[in-house]
Amino acid sequence: MTYLADKPKVPITLSTLNKYKATGEKFSCLTCYDASFAASMQAAGVDSILVGDSLGMVVQGQVSTLPVTVADMVYHTENVARANTHALIMTDLPFMSYATVSDAIASAKAVMQAGANVVKIEGGSELSDTVKVLTNNGVPVCVHLGLTPQSVNVFGGYKVQGKTDEAANRLIEDCHAVTAAGAAVLLLECVPAELAKTITQSVDVPVIGIGAGVDTDGQVLVMHDILGVYTRKPAKFVKNFLTDPKNASRSIQGAFELYHEEVKQKAFPTPAHSFL
Ligand code: KIV
Repeated sequence: MTYLADKPKVPITLSTLNKYKATGEKFSCLTCYDASFAASMQAAGVDSILVGDSLGMVVQGQVSTLPVTVADMVYHTENVARANTHALIMTDLPFMSYATVSDAIASAKAVMQAGANVVKIEGGSELSDTVKVLTNNGVPVCVHLGLTPQSVNVFGGYKVQGKTDEAANRLIEDCHAVTAAGAAVLLLECVPAELAKTITQSVDVPVIGIGAGVDTDGQVLVMHDILGVYTRKPAKFVKNFLTDPKNASRSIQGAFELYHEEVKQKAFPTPAHSFL
């Protein structure tokens, strides 16, 4: 089977995201785990796909992302990549698969060979050596900071991060340390909107937000969340684009198109979807 997007696009690369940051154009990202939804996202024009380890929860029915393996990430990245025509594919390295630099090299090699364009790892300044080595070996790295779900047992739950001055300053320092080490993209999850804005304006690389306000360079949401497929209470930053009256067709592709459009227009997220 060949997947043909009805709106073929010029491939989105890191240079495209950097150009978007420079010109102030926002970009959209959705999680995706298989070929059919990836094809629909292509047709909708979504800029970037995250093969997230959230698949542990939304696909496998696990209680957290911790049981996800590199083999799982390879399998889902291959499925998405087969249908991909233009989106930048980012793939998560799962829990404990980058605990040492040599583990990180092996895990990154596996997902890049499966079709990822960028690998995403969770943490802060302690990842600097890993970021340096991967980058020097041709692997662009996105560092996920703020609420990092692989550390849910350290945080004691899924909570907003960077709320005190001390925590905010630590987060800013972490962002600067990983970008100095060569991180190509940052992803901020569950961070107060003003702090995310400050960070976005203080780094040269594109910053993607989820629950981080409207001022990050790009936005990401979990695909199941925007389609209203919830297995738990949806977070404040989630919006159901399937049932939104502006999705006139009430179709899945219509939901992807509306999400992409609202991100581009800065109509999503609103303050109601942000931590202020
Ligand atoms: O795994 C994932 O889906 C993620 C998003 C929540 C950003 O990391």
